[in-house]
Amino acid sequence: MADETIETLSAETLHFPPSAAFTAQANARADVYDAPFEEFWESNGRERVTWFEPFTELYRWELPHAEWYLGGKLNVAYNCVDRHVEAGLGSRVAFHWEGEPEDETRAITYADLQRDVVRMANALRKIGVGKGTAVAIYMGMVPELAMAILACSRLGAPFTVVFGGFAADSLSDRMNDMGCEVLVTQDEAWRRGKPVPLKVVADEAMQAVPGVRAALVVRRTGNAVPMTDGRDHWYHDLDVSDDPASCPCEPMDSEDLLFVMYTSGTTAKPKGIAHTTAGYLVGVATTHSLIFDLKAESDVYWCAADIGWITGHSYIVFGPLCNGATSVIYEGTPDYPNYERWWEIVERYGVSILYTAPTAIRAHIKWGPEHVGKHDISSLRLLGSVGEPINPAAWMWYHKHIGGERCPIVDTWWQTETGMILLTSLPGVTTAKPGCATRPFPGVFAAVLNEEGERVEHGSGYLVLERPWPAMTRGIFGDDARFQETYWKKFPGYYFAGDGARIDEDGDFWLLGRVDDVMNVSGHRLSTIEIESALVDHPRVAEAAVCGRSDALTGEAIVAYVTLKGNEGPSVEMLEELRNHVAVRIGAFAKPANIVFTPELPKTRSGKIMRRLLRDVAENRAIGDTTTLADSGVVLELASRAAESLTDE
Ligand code: WTA
Repeated sequence: MADETIETLSAETLHFPPSAAFTAQANARADVYDAPFEEFWESNGRERVTWFEPFTELYRWELPHAEWYLGGKLNVAYNCVDRHVEAGLGSRVAFHWEGEPEDETRAITYADLQRDVVRMANALRKIGVGKGTAVAIYMGMVPELAMAILACSRLGAPFTVVFGGFAADSLSDRMNDMGCEVLVTQDEAWRRGKPVPLKVVADEAMQAVPGVRAALVVRRTGNAVPMTDGRDHWYHDLDVSDDPASCPCEPMDSEDLLFVMYTSGTTAKPKGIAHTTAGYLVGVATTHSLIFDLKAESDVYWCAADIGWITGHSYIVFGPLCNGATSVIYEGTPDYPNYERWWEIVERYGVSILYTAPTAIRAHIKWGPEHVGKHDISSLRLLGSVGEPINPAAWMWYHKHIGGERCPIVDTWWQTETGMILLTSLPGVTTAKPGCATRPFPGVFAAVLNEEGERVEHGSGYLVLERPWPAMTRGIFGDDARFQETYWKKFPGYYFAGDGARIDEDGDFWLLGRVDDVMNVSGHRLSTIEIESALVDHPRVAEAAVCGRSDALTGEAIVAYVTLKGNEGPSVEMLEELRNHVAVRIGAFAKPANIVFTPELPKTRSGKIMRRLLRDVAENRAIGDTTTLADSGVVLELASRAAESLTDE
């Protein structure tokens, strides 16, 4: 079927029921939906996690604050590592790590992981980390990143991982917000054959973090990097024990803070999304097992996300390890040294479950199916998608060229805030439809509301959650007012996700994208205002407005409208300077794809920038209603300028 046909064909007419063979062996059976809410989370809580002390109360819901598994004591690292070794699974591979340079691979068994986590935890202790010390982690996709996360969990030290693509300002803002005293980083990372100077960026960031006392530096590329005496410590130089008895797992309360993950909201300041210990672990372990149908003894599971985002936390580190899985971690990009890299990895390790994002699938579509055709990827038996709505053409390509028309595809909707997958198909149960996230996970209650807050049985509106779930965020770190305002105010009594959704005649949920000022670029969440403030921070910029436009590859692309100061005219140099300025302020992934220079921005009479109109211009749509504009001529002017906008493409 031609791709255009798929896009125009109502995707609802394409139905993919599970095969009888898959259903017969699936972890999740149809009756999994029948379990009452309390019973479902009670039994998963008891069975999937080893408790030092059992919980006494399932949950407490004082809107909007939920607590789960009250009274329980446990340790996340113990559940993810030690207990598997104690159960005799020490020789099972936890991670097949594949470095970006092709000759560098490591097979890390659960016994290895235990020793390495203990060593890392002892190193952290030596530089002053104890229960409650906040730690920032700024690394690439090396095994030590997972080890640092687990070491913090072992010690009861709450951590925040900052994606290695972020710039110094973004790192220092996050460290200051959380009050981080220690930073774990590495000399450099590899990206497309070039070293990325993580330690140099970390040094710049630490200058702006008065509370930072020490840094632990992992050697990766081996190139020389500056080290500050008294503050910076090479990990390999610290003489510490790797004997588990030397560093017991700290018993933590169910509701103790596990980590904070910063994500973009609708203002310039990122939100620190807080996750606690027990509910988060139960949530990610349960979803990982049922949705990915994990058979820990035989599957090789690969989530091709970055650990620096929530997907990597929940579905590379915590969920899979809690379930005793064998996973792949790949350090590099899918196009290095060539377009075959991913399929080489699938073939080499016999990957059976692959979880990735639509933007990656679209990149592979662009590169062509011949690259995957050179490899035997018949080990695959299940595919997953996350991060944005998957367009039906990409779904069909994934199904055909990667799934060999035999693998079920799970389209999983969730967020940094939700911690775990909330809407998804179950591979042996649900009839999949390309582009449709289908149903709430068992024990999850979702609904669609209209503007008036009334339930929409069939049709479009706002996606909300009606009941708490174990892995839900406990709040925005240090800003409860913003937490209440962002998620709980629009529809009192409901968690408002910020996404539009439609329920079809079968009761299945289709995600329609964000309804706020948040963009989704290659699966990265970015706020328009965050980029605007980076732009106006440039000395020559008077004003800036940013919006997303649809993009065939990245889902959304960033368009910036910029008014320069004085009489300065636009130039290609200025365009590059501004794009680089955003890269320096936030990170290269946040660079605008287009910049439109304009003498004025369209505003309402009260001075609010009309992003809806800018979006229309960016999308080349007919201009919408402009009657509330202070100067409606501006937008027409803009539209003609946009047509000749300076772009790097
Ligand atoms: C979007 C990533 C449609 C959505 C796990 C959400 C999706 C935001 C899907 C969260 C999906 C994620 N279908 N949209 N399967 N998965 N989204 O916090 O807009 O980085 O609100 O978490 O991504 O992005 P975040």
